Amino acid sequence: MAILLALVLIIAISLNVLQHFLLPANRSLPPVVFHWMPVIGSVISYGRDPVNFFLQCREKYGDIFTIILLGRRMTVALGPAGNRFILGGKSTIFNAEDAYKHLTTPVFGKDVVYDVPNHVFMEQKKFLKFGLTGENLRVYVGMIEDEVHQYLQTDQAFLSLKTLSSDEYGSFDVLKVLEEITILTAARTLQGREVRDNLDKTFSTIYKDLDGGFTPLNFLFPNLPLESYRRRDRAQKKMSQFFINIIQKRRTSSSHGENDMISSLLGQKYRDGRALRNHEIANMMIGLLMAGQHTSASTGAWALLHVAYNRNVADSLYEEQLEFFCTKGGVFRSMTYEELKKLPLLNAVITETLRLHPPIHSIMRYIREDVLVPSSLNDIFTVPRGHYALASPAVSQMDPHIWKSPQTWDPYRWIDSDFVSSSFSGLKKGTESVFQPFGSGQHRCIGEQFAYVQLGTIIATIIREVELRRDNGVPRPNYQTMITCPREPRSIFYRRRTHQ
Ligand code: HEM
Ligand SMILES: *[C@@H]1O[C@H](CO)[C@@H](O)[C@H](O)[C@H]1NC(C)=O
Repeated sequence: MAILLALVLIIAISLNVLQHFLLPANRSLPPVVFHWMPVIGSVISYGRDPVNFFLQCREKYGDIFTIILLGRRMTVALGPAGNRFILGGKSTIFNAEDAYKHLTTPVFGKDVVYDVPNHVFMEQKKFLKFGLTGENLRVYVGMIEDEVHQYLQTDQAFLSLKTLSSDEYGSFDVLKVLEEITILTAARTLQGREVRDNLDKTFSTIYKDLDGGFTPLNFLFPNLPLESYRRRDRAQKKMSQFFINIIQKRRTSSSHGENDMISSLLGQKYRDGRALRNHEIANMMIGLLMAGQHTSASTGAWALLHVAYNRNVADSLYEEQLEFFCTKGGVFRSMTYEELKKLPLLNAVITETLRLHPPIHSIMRYIREDVLVPSSLNDIFTVPRGHYALASPAVSQMDPHIWKSPQTWDPYRWIDSDFVSSSFSGLKKGTESVFQPFGSGQHRCIGEQFAYVQLGTIIATIIREVELRRDNGVPRPNYQTMITCPREPRSIFYRRRTHQ
């Protein structure tokens, strides 16, 4: 039996290889990247390090090529033109629901996001945008400061702030800490009081189970008879009900003045005049939670790792805080939203971190109709319906033809204005930009401003209270999780600040 299997495998591989080299390729289709195993295709190289894999493919095949991933044909289009082709494409051809819904609907629930036709989701996206006004963000800064301050005072990870003397270092796992601070601060602000009050209780276990159903495995296989899939399904129902209870209470009570998303969604109406149903609001809240949690947490973790390793940047960040917010009495005052937006180094630290570590390395669409694309080598390819399209803004963000020392984390490249205007002519806004960690086009992120407020306030508050240090470089990225995050060990040393 084993021999038979081995034989079948060898024949399959041989046929696949022979076909690749002997049969003439259809010149009107993008070149298929060579792979040994039929069906399985390039899943190993892609899964290990997609950005480097794409850079290597580009050397061989140009900006447009097709990779095989577990039987799916994914046509990758790189560079500004590739990003524009895919992200700027019409939703009737480049379809997001068909690419994502089998992953997202079991987690978010029915009738929202990719479970509804594109035009309905676009209305829902507009509702979410209404909840992220400057007025709300302004209130959030103080709330986030407060949560981070509390966390540093009370969490186990920072216990040594009290027990150690000021010249001794403690250490913490930066991803773990950022995951916790991110959910605390998102709950306090966007998610609302009821969520914040339940974070230590029911909410966090349900959240964990739900999150366990939002992995690359779930993307590849929407339904497997595994315990994690069953837990995901149970957790979705509980989480949805948890929000529905809140929404029902809010509808009947007359408590006004909440600056959170539920309060904003309760006031919205679809174009046809219909108000949002309870389960739609509930499931949009789950979508929001999933969209903002690991993206922000991972960005914050990478930022602190680089800051801790680049002590001069850490010092300058602290000085920036002193310069703007140190009162005559020698204590820090709160930042305002307007001030936060204007801090050059703090914002450059976030932007540079998003350049080198964009949390999302692959953006996908399902091709619903044959579509033509000009290649960099003056050919015109047909991308046939049934393919997936894959954009990877991460590749342009690390492209040595575009950026000086792309692998170096250097926030000052965003501050030195000469550099920005000369070498970054490609840095226009829109679908053709070489910098788009938040995507672009119709599906562009709505959470950018919130993420900057959240991350900026978290980083500033930590920098004010502790001194960070890391000697052994910055970890390599882990691409096997949904969101690219730093590998272990990712500890940072810290000690109490003694002076201001
Ligand atoms: C550093 C933080 C974040 C990064 C890097 C990020 C990145 C992205 C990217 C790349 C997309 C485009 C996806 C696509 O085209 O398929 C996106 C879409 C989106 N993001 Fe974010 N995001 C972040 C934080 C947030 C937060 C905090 C929220 C909510 C408050 C959020 C909500 C959304 C929503 C609703 C979409 C729209 C999806 C669509 O239209 O298909 N994101 N984000
Ligand atoms: C090559 O691909 C194009 C586009 O899908 C198709 O119309 C054509 O029939 C193909 N040619 C051959 C020889 O298979």
